Amino acid sequence: MLLFCSLSAVLGLVAEPPVEFTPKEQRRILQHSPVPAVPEDTTNAWSMDPDAAHLGQALFFDSGFSRNNQVSCATCHGPMIAWTDALPLATGLETGTRHSPSLLNAAHQRWFFWDGRADTLWSQAMHPIETVAEFDSTRIAYIRRIHDDTAYREAYESIFGPLPPMDDELRFPPGVRSDSPEWDELPAADRALVDRAFANCSKAIAAYEGRLRSVDSPFDTFVEGLREDDPGKLAALTPAQQRGLQLFVGEAGCRQCHSGPLFSDFEFHNIGIPTGHGGPPRDPGRFAGLKVVQNSPFSAHGPFSDDPNGSRARRTASVVQGQEHWGSFKTPTLRNIERTAPYMHQGQMGQLEDVLAFYNTLEDMQVQDHHQETVLQPLDLTEEQLADLAAFLRSLTSPLPSRSLMGPVDPRTGKPPAKQ
Ligand code: HEC
Ligand code: HEC
Repeated sequence: MLLFCSLSAVLGLVAEPPVEFTPKEQRRILQHSPVPAVPEDTTNAWSMDPDAAHLGQALFFDSGFSRNNQVSCATCHGPMIAWTDALPLATGLETGTRHSPSLLNAAHQRWFFWDGRADTLWSQAMHPIETVAEFDSTRIAYIRRIHDDTAYREAYESIFGPLPPMDDELRFPPGVRSDSPEWDELPAADRALVDRAFANCSKAIAAYEGRLRSVDSPFDTFVEGLREDDPGKLAALTPAQQRGLQLFVGEAGCRQCHSGPLFSDFEFHNIGIPTGHGGPPRDPGRFAGLKVVQNSPFSAHGPFSDDPNGSRARRTASVVQGQEHWGSFKTPTLRNIERTAPYMHQGQMGQLEDVLAFYNTLEDMQVQDHHQETVLQPLDLTEEQLADLAAFLRSLTSPLPSRSLMGPVDPRTGKPPAKQ
């Protein structure tokens, strides 16, 4: 009999007891689903424009904008792996210092990058072009290429109006980077023309990124089941996953930061994970990122924003830099976490189990002299509880968006490009 019982448990023949959630736990769980519709970004007048999204998709997959013609946005944000790259540190023309995050549901974020140094999705998209480790190009060369390519030019001009005369190389020298003294010597009006076109292209990319939604995970079905009291839908999570969920919203305290439908509070925390390079942390994280965004001409309150007095703009202006920002990073979303290894801002942790082991023991935690938040305590969970938590996190995986969003397109139509 005993033998029969354990054998059938192994074979899954005997149902495990169902998990009972208290009303408080249920309220907490309901806060994590569904993912709402993408909000309109008032700082980007084209955020919902389908033509802009087609142009943006073409730009996203085009490696012709990088110095060596080999790097596109998709190099580090590959559609087949949830718009990430599976590397600890991103590699474009060189290897960078941070890990590539997923772009799924990115339009819901409040701050962009691990340190939040961009406050809109569109202004984020301007950074990679001139970053040496990524495209290592210039904004002038970028707009020049759009100008010289019939398909791009037609698409751009039908959405945003005429491009500047970029083929005038004396006026718009393609090799000049915006962080060089030569750029400062160009007439302010010409710099503004380039910056405007550059911001427009980035707004088109953001319109495309807004379509990268990922919403229907087994967890979402389970939450529907809770709302509708539907046992069929509740069965979308295994008993182990339900026990993991209970830990997540309860004893393990994960929801303190990984809260809401994206499993992120969109804020910054220093959780003291060991650095990827050994030794003390060198990355100031939010401390530096906040100053960058507040001083950027492309911020939500800047001249290229379509809503410079709106709530995004006010939020950016109102944050005050403090010591607690040092070494803090944005709480990442946990949706699709199964597909986005390795983890953390430097890809320090290879597997979900490594992340959970860290939270469980806080071994090698980097405690800093600055005023660090100390909300984390070792969890001391059992092996079985850790396995349940991992099983729950794996229930946050959704089907990828439509295949039509996963590759290059003609910028005018959004259809796959005609074969040459
Ligand atoms: C060389 C690899 C690489 C390339 C190329 C690249 N990215 Fe990224 N991307 C990253 C890394 C790394 C980060 C995080 C960097 C940081 O926080 O400092 C990031 C961050 C982002 C974010 C912020 C996501 C978030 O949750 O905060 C968005 C959006 C994004 N990239 C879109 C793009 C777009 C659009 C392009 C093309 C114009 C692009 N990326 C090109 C590696 C890359
Ligand atoms: C105090 C806020 C806070 C709490 C509590 C917290 N996290 Fe995190 N979590 C973060 C931050 C911030 C990061 C990114 C840290 C970094 O890269 O330096 C992170 C990273 C992660 C990652 C890696 C995600 C990725 O894409 O790289 C996972 C997985 C994760 N947390 C799961 C959990 C789980 C499970 C719990 C509960 C046991 C938990 N977290 C508790 C703030 C928190």
